[in-house]
Amino acid sequence: MSTIFPSWTNKLPTLIAGGAVSAACLAVGVAWYYFTPKYWAVGYMPTQPGGGFNHQIHAGKLGMDCRYCHTKVEESAEANIPTVETCMGCHADGRLKVFNNQAHKDKTDFIRAAYAADESIEWRRIHKVPDYVRNFPHNAHIAAGVSCLSCHGNIARMPVVYQHEPLSMGWCLDCHRNPEPHLVAKDMVTKLFDIEKIPLDTRIEQGRKYYEERRLAAPEGCGACHY
Ligand code: HEC
Ligand code: HEC
Ligand code: HEC
Ligand code: HEC
Ligand code: HEC
Repeated sequence: MSTIFPSWTNKLPTLIAGGAVSAACLAVGVAWYYFTPKYWAVGYMPTQPGGGFNHQIHAGKLGMDCRYCHTKVEESAEANIPTVETCMGCHADGRLKVFNNQAHKDKTDFIRAAYAADESIEWRRIHKVPDYVRNFPHNAHIAAGVSCLSCHGNIARMPVVYQHEPLSMGWCLDCHRNPEPHLVAKDMVTKLFDIEKIPLDTRIEQGRKYYEERRLAAPEGCGACHY
């Protein structure tokens, strides 16, 4: 006697249930991704002390390397903010030619004032992951060849720094699952303008090669990022 339902249909209920669970997970995931507060923090741009610090002038026009100021970014988890001493290397009395320009002098007075008072400049922090996320490791990402560009946008074009990416869990995982387009030659990690010029398909092609060569493994397990 022939069966009305072929034997593969025995699996149907499980498949349907599985589909429902995946759909539910997806819905939760999507809601989570789009409605976490950090998503809305894209563009966060607080008012800074003095007239603020201009990356477009220093890293863009003057072409200073990020590591001139963020000196620890390759060695430690934290990317440090420079001290007043770093600024004084150029902005001490009379050191720059533009110092004779009154407008420039006025704009940079807050640096010399802080230095004279032996105080630090209280820069307001822009990028921050919540405390339940382990220390975000800058060093590991730079060593893997992920550019500042991928996570901060082109800072060297920004007169005022703003948060360019959501810094959400979905954002971290999107790259961990598909890091190839974000991997560059190691000596290019801070050369944001040069990276922008590489066409996307070339970047992906090179990225695949780097991923293999460097034996990378971007973690997806909860313990890698959470306590
Ligand atoms: C001359 C020193 C100097 C150079 C060069 C420099 N920065 Fe900065 N950077 C600062 C200072 C000072 C701050 C804090 C003030 C601010 O946020 O604007 C800062 C802030 C930042 C922030 C935001 C920090 C936060 O609060 O979340 C990022 C991201 C950043 N820099 C990335 C870069 C990148 C990428 C480059 C290279 C393209 C670079 N910087 C070059 C001095 C520098
Ligand atoms: C390597 C030298 C150098 C260092 C280090 C440096 N600056 Fe400058 N900075 C300059 C020069 C040169 C200018 C003038 C650029 C121009 O007018 O085009 C300038 C301009 C400025 C201005 C005026 C911006 C404007 O809108 O005209 C401010 C404010 C400033 N710097 C803050 C800082 C701070 C804060 C630091 C330390 C985190 C710092 N600079 C470190 C060289 C430097
Ligand atoms: C893979 C993504 C990623 C890359 C690549 C990356 N950053 Fe960051 N950066 C972050 C995140 C996430 C934070 C917030 C970290 C936290 O809260 O602990 C941050 C914070 C910062 C801060 C603020 C630190 C503070 O204590 O206020 C600076 C400055 C900074 N990054 C500079 C850089 C520079 C310069 C580069 C390139 C040499 C770079 N970052 C590359 C993701 C990245
Ligand atoms: C643009 C790509 C990119 C983004 C965005 C990114 N990562 Fe990564 N991450 C990588 C790559 C590539 C590696 C692999 C490094 C290796 O294998 O050495 C990695 C490795 C790590 C590691 C393991 C470090 C180690 O010592 O092996 C941690 C932890 C981590 N990422 C946390 C984060 C967190 C938290 C975020 C989000 C706030 C984030 N990452 C966002 C690309 C990224
Ligand atoms: C690559 C790093 C990374 C991995 C892996 C990771 N997380 Fe997260 N997670 C984050 C970051 C970053 C945030 C903070 C997001 C924000 O600020 O919106 C977060 C937030 C969370 C939150 C709080 C969400 C909220 O909306 O408040 C929970 C719960 C969580 N993660 C659970 C997990 C679990 C469970 C896993 C393993 C399946 C995991 N995470 C794997 C980086 C990671």
